[in-house]
Amino acid sequence: MFMYLIAMIAALTGFLFGFDEGIMSGVIELIKKDFSLDTHQTGFMMGLLPFGALLSSIVTGRFCDWVGRLQVLRLVPLLFSFAIVLIIGTTSYSALCAARLLLGISIGMSVVVSPLYIAETTPSEVRGKLVICFQLAITIGILSSYVLNFLHASNDFGLSWRWMFGVGFIPAAILFVGALFLPETPRWLCMKGHKEKAEQVLLHLYKGRVSKYSQSRAEKDVHEIGEAIRQEKRSIWKILVSKKVMPCLSLGVMLFFFQQLSGINVIIYYAPTVFNKLQLGSHLATLLATVGVGTLNVLMTIFSMRWVERMGRRPLLLLGFLGTAASLGVIAFISYFGLDQLSWIAAICVFVYIAFFAMSLGPLPWVMMPEIFPLAVRGQGASFSAASNWLFNTLVVAAFPIMLHSIGIGPTFACYAIFCILGYLFSLRYVPETKHLSLEEIEAHIQSGKPFRTLGVRSKM
Ligand code: BGC
Repeated sequence: MFMYLIAMIAALTGFLFGFDEGIMSGVIELIKKDFSLDTHQTGFMMGLLPFGALLSSIVTGRFCDWVGRLQVLRLVPLLFSFAIVLIIGTTSYSALCAARLLLGISIGMSVVVSPLYIAETTPSEVRGKLVICFQLAITIGILSSYVLNFLHASNDFGLSWRWMFGVGFIPAAILFVGALFLPETPRWLCMKGHKEKAEQVLLHLYKGRVSKYSQSRAEKDVHEIGEAIRQEKRSIWKILVSKKVMPCLSLGVMLFFFQQLSGINVIIYYAPTVFNKLQLGSHLATLLATVGVGTLNVLMTIFSMRWVERMGRRPLLLLGFLGTAASLGVIAFISYFGLDQLSWIAAICVFVYIAFFAMSLGPLPWVMMPEIFPLAVRGQGASFSAASNWLFNTLVVAAFPIMLHSIGIGPTFACYAIFCILGYLFSLRYVPETKHLSLEEIEAHIQSGKPFRTLGVRSKM
């Protein structure tokens, strides 16, 4: 329970990410009206968040190595809250833009530091499960924003759009206070030469919780972490592009490439538009269906916490790609051939798609991101992987209205289905199995020079 609590606190940054992803679709028209924004101003202001997130995620890994994972984790809610205060208080367009940029910076930091922090503090048997708390928090953030958007649209409450953002204060405050009680990660402490402190943290975290965990086991763990660091004397850049580590970096980036190219954020950001195109009914009905999507996203993420340690990362990922490809294919088929009488099946397929995404493509890139890099470059590797998430996210979301207009919804979804099939083939060939392996065992495999993809996978590929 104690380890869950730690992971849940560190994962709260995910809520801030998810909440902001979802809330904008509900309030953008109101913001445009209040600030009298034209299309260019709106586009610029909207683009500042992914831009800030992209930039900050690139540098956060180094920052985490420098000041520690914990200090960065503590900084996130402060920056986020400051941005929210600006949004709530401002009447000027430039301050609004500054706030969006700041939100982006804090969210970009959070997507690197939280999975890293959780992976480095938890034992291997439950690491996958606990890193999924981060994805769970993202989905809860998205769902909360959908509910607020729905209540706002149905005029059931009197919150202005400014105060809808204010809801983000609650998790930010919990995170800030909670993080005051969290320890620094043992891996970072070792990296900085604080071995005794690292042992104390390991004992504090695992004694009585991991079977037979004792002082001598903590000493052994710290020794193993120290060995990994001692062996690596090259600069971060040299290590990252080395023959041994390059496959890890490619994997981190490609997992997010396929996650985003599966079209998830087209559903997350444009769910009402998609349901509308699929002729689901009134505006309120589409918003309600959107809340349904958000709820299923949360529920299936909870299920994935169970499966990730039983099935393993690789089978779960393969299953997810198959399920998302099939459901997207059906939507594409029904829409392309204009089978209006079957539009309810297409709507169901949106839910099937979300279910498969939420149990695999959603959480697994975050789970594997901090697992697949040696300690010396874990921060930077995670940074590049998370930055690619933002890059591909922005490209897919920006391309959607253009694709919708030029080729229509059927072929657009067919493209996402094709990327899911490619994701399946990629995973079959390149994704290793990291289930129940300690971070040091994974690192030893990388350093051994054996092909990375053979890690934890029995059959020869
Ligand atoms: C993705 C987000 C997406 C969310 C949906 C995350 O793993 O990175 O882009 O919006 O899942 O649940």
